[in-house]
Amino acid sequence: MAEAWVTQMRMLITGGAGFIGSNFVHHMVKTYPDSEIVVLDKLTYAGRKENLQDIWSKIKFVKGDITKREDVEKVAEDCDCIVNFAAETHVDRSIVEAGTFVFTDVLGTYNLLEVARKFEVPRFEQISTDEVYGHIHAGSFQEQDKLNPRNPYSASKAGAELLCRSYFETHGLPIVITRSSNNYGPYQHPEKLVPKTIIYATLNKRIPVYGTGENVRDWIYVEDNCKAIDLVLEKGEAGQAYNIAGQQELKNIDVVKTILKLSGSSESLIEFVKDRPGHDARYSLSIDKILRLGWKPKTKFDEGIRKTLKWYQNNAAWWKPVIESERIDFHR
Ligand SMILES: NC(=O)c1ccc[n+]([C@@H]2O[C@H](COP(=O)([O-])OP(=O)(O)OC[C@H]3O[C@@H](n4cnc5c(N)ncnc54)[C@H](O)[C@@H]3O)[C@@H](O)[C@H]2O)c1
Repeated sequence: MAEAWVTQMRMLITGGAGFIGSNFVHHMVKTYPDSEIVVLDKLTYAGRKENLQDIWSKIKFVKGDITKREDVEKVAEDCDCIVNFAAETHVDRSIVEAGTFVFTDVLGTYNLLEVARKFEVPRFEQISTDEVYGHIHAGSFQEQDKLNPRNPYSASKAGAELLCRSYFETHGLPIVITRSSNNYGPYQHPEKLVPKTIIYATLNKRIPVYGTGENVRDWIYVEDNCKAIDLVLEKGEAGQAYNIAGQQELKNIDVVKTILKLSGSSESLIEFVKDRPGHDARYSLSIDKILRLGWKPKTKFDEGIRKTLKWYQNNAAWWKPVIESERIDFHR
């Protein structure tokens, strides 16, 4: 990409009020102070303006829905790039009700691609997930491996990706795709494993763990992922997908026990609950391709989880209203 494009862009970031999206917006505001950043977000239960409060004057926020053509067209003209984080993201919710996932993740992405094509947007980055590969018992997935999603969330994300690829092949739309492992860090909705464990430990509440907690995930600190997404936006080859992982694989039960230990809480808070149907056993990614692009994960789990714990401890005013108003426990 030309230098001017990189430092003075007009970027459209969809889903920028959610967890990774808001961290990415923070990263881009800091890294490209001369760029114009437009955030389009529907503000579902997972999106909050508070996540962008400290940089509010530096961005343009538009409340809108990626599944609505007119909402996207209003903000996409003259964009140098679109980065699509907007999605329904919680596997448990997709098991209860899959329609919203198909609608937002697949149809919403299709809609964005059509608008990108109409306005000839020079770069389109689709934020995908390691879950599109399905699970792997030994070894690690490479980018060319078959997509084999096993739950409605990952199937919707895989559908979105395939549409992106088809727009590259058919229409020459310069798309790139990132597939990252499990992120953790500030602004993650309390329904997800890490914040839920931290918050429940703080409240001295029972912490539900699926099955025996043996499922393995790779964990990446969200800031590291944001840097990788930025790099792929700039240097990724059009039509290609890039795996992003922290190279720190842990069993869910070990993540929970680490948090309990760091927060001085007892392991007796752990409550094993009936396993999630179709629960993927292990995710693992080879990151050789993005290493060659010039990125590597910096934050060790031990350091990242301490920072995350501190953030939630210092920001109870951020999570308390969510805990009080929403159903975040899907286990019973
Ligand atoms: N969290 C992870 O560990 C992880 C890992 C790999 C990939 N991803 C992917 O990264 C992206 C962001 O994930 P997250 O964890 O930050 O999600 P999130 O649930 O925290 O945020 C999603 C955001 O999208 C917005 N949104 C939802 N539907 C929308 C619509 N129709 N129009 C506009 N905005 C809409 C929500 O309001 C919210 O701000 C997703 O695409 C997800 O699949 C997440």
